[in-house]
Amino acid sequence: MRHDIIEKNIGLMIVFITLVISGGFLAEVVPLFFIKEVNEPIEGLEPLTALELEGRDIYIREGCHVCHTQQIRPFRAETERYGHYSVAGEFVYDRPFLWGSKRTGPDLARVGGRYSDAWQRQHLYDPRSVVPESNMPAFPWLFEDRVNHKGTAAKLSAMQTLGVPYTDEQIASAPDAVEGKFEIEALVAYLQQLGTVLSDKR
Ligand code: HEC
Repeated sequence: MRHDIIEKNIGLMIVFITLVISGGFLAEVVPLFFIKEVNEPIEGLEPLTALELEGRDIYIREGCHVCHTQQIRPFRAETERYGHYSVAGEFVYDRPFLWGSKRTGPDLARVGGRYSDAWQRQHLYDPRSVVPESNMPAFPWLFEDRVNHKGTAAKLSAMQTLGVPYTDEQIASAPDAVEGKFEIEALVAYLQQLGTVLSDKR
């Protein structure tokens, strides 16, 4: 059988596997480069402020994304709980994106504005003081350590290189915008803007 011939010949297998994968790539991935909806920011989307960007780095450093996704799927059970499903245009300035794949805790794609700053701070300081059954870890050191402002301008500048439309003035003023701030302030600023651009919630 011809099938046998291919399966027993590693050279032919490589050729056919390459052809199949290339075909799949051409059909599934290449068109995405040209579809406007997945490449362009949704209306009103602004790059993160310097403080929010530092907050995002703290979010990554503390591993929040290991327990929390930032991606609401277009299913009723998801949209009833979390709000409007996520759209690609919300993430064009997100590098790297933090969609995640495992939900130990709830999705955070639209957590911005859902709680007060005071609630967020209390929850991060001692989750069980506001949600008794919570198994989320506490992050008390965020209230002691200050944001290291020395790297902030370089971070914005790196984002600019990647195509995030920061102006040179924003980059120049970035260190002043975060100097002296506690890490918790940066993290809460980041959380409070999550998902707020597409605001037709619930
Ligand atoms: C070990 C897993 C784990 C880690 C790590 C974790 N969380 Fe959570 N988180 C949870 C769980 C479980 C809940 C649900 C119980 C609760 O509200 O405390 C939760 C709830 C939340 C909520 C409330 C969401 C809502 O809609 O009610 C926020 C906000 C949050 N986490 C932020 C963070 C941030 C920021 C970090 C990183 C500094 C973090 N979490 C790290 C497990 C985790």
